[in-house]
Amino acid sequence: MAYAAFRSIGAYIPPKIMTNADFEKIIDTSDEWITKRTGIKERRLSEAGEASSDLGAKAAQIAIDRAGISKDEIDLVICATVTPDFLCMPSTACMIASKLELPNVMAYDISAACTGFVYAVSVAKAFVESGMKKNVLIVGAETYSSILDYTDRTTCFIFGDGAGAAIISATEDKSEAIIDVNCSSDGNYHDLIKTPGGGSLHPCSQEVLDQKMACIKMKGNETFKLAVKTLTSDVKVMLEKHNLTNADINHFIPHQANYRIIKAVGEALDMNDEQTVVTVDKYGNTSAASIPMAMNYAYEQGKIKKGDNVLFDAFGGGLTWGSALFPFSPKN
Ligand SMILES: CC(C)(COP(=O)(O)OP(=O)(O)OC[C@H]1O[C@@H](n2cnc3c(N)ncnc32)[C@H](O)[C@@H]1OP(=O)(O)O)[C@@H](O)C(=O)NCCC(=O)NCCS
Repeated sequence: MAYAAFRSIGAYIPPKIMTNADFEKIIDTSDEWITKRTGIKERRLSEAGEASSDLGAKAAQIAIDRAGISKDEIDLVICATVTPDFLCMPSTACMIASKLELPNVMAYDISAACTGFVYAVSVAKAFVESGMKKNVLIVGAETYSSILDYTDRTTCFIFGDGAGAAIISATEDKSEAIIDVNCSSDGNYHDLIKTPGGGSLHPCSQEVLDQKMACIKMKGNETFKLAVKTLTSDVKVMLEKHNLTNADINHFIPHQANYRIIKAVGEALDMNDEQTVVTVDKYGNTSAASIPMAMNYAYEQGKIKKGDNVLFDAFGGGLTWGSALFPFSPKN
């Protein structure tokens, strides 16, 4: 049987910075309030005309180079995004494949909001273990700036743009294998985080434009409470299932939505600051890109070494949630 190894990580961080002080100029808020309520100090923005696939292709190229494979060896491209280049088609994964010059490759998108990258790990693992694919490129790429209402002071300051990517490859060495991925959802909570217009329920119309219905609307406070509860229980279930404790985890990488959420979850799980990766202060919430961007940050700081146990913990619109547990397994 083939196992699936998490071989490499990469990210593309757009250089353009939007600080809390920049938000003070456009909405009724303050750096002090945003910092205290979220821990966010700044976030990145793509340039006009720069789409999710542009960010994703740049992150992907880094992940491919670090995996030490030729791009021709990639036989599946999955892009997790809720800010695709185009509303319906072509998929952002197809655009990434085209930008990387990978013509004859299976490519498609996953829509699971902030949990998207963990869903992609789950699907890549299944494809590799089934023997259908050998080298899967997974990408989380978002340009939230394209769906934000910059007059909505309750939501617009939270999100940012960016992309992260990884290569998941077949191996026969069980010690390299992704241990487990557990993903779930509950659509009964669909109203908490939503882009209400522009889809088949409310197709694009003057009303959709006037009411900014294609922009993200979020019930922040209710989402906050569910996020803390779900992110905590998700990890407890994963660790118990594998007879592990928090001490077995070298790098705990939770979804980067709000520092208060990360802190509350970390405390409930007894994860210390050394184990827990935090980038929300620098990048805000980049949805499906948040976990791979955070992992890449720790990797580039020299913190993540071969064989280290990594634990992803994600939560987002849908609602969706999921966790992934694996040893980091670069070839060399
Ligand atoms: C959005 C969020 C930061 C708001 O923080 P909060 O502590 O829940 O704040 P509340 O919504 O209860 O609002 C508190 C007060 O701040 C005000 N407020 C809202 N936005 C503000 C802003 N940008 N600046 C200043 N004040 C603001 C509110 O109007 C409210 O005022 P009131 O008490 O006079 O009514 C927080 O709820 C959050 O991070 N939620 C989760 C988001 C998330 O995880 N999303 C993605 C999941 S993938």
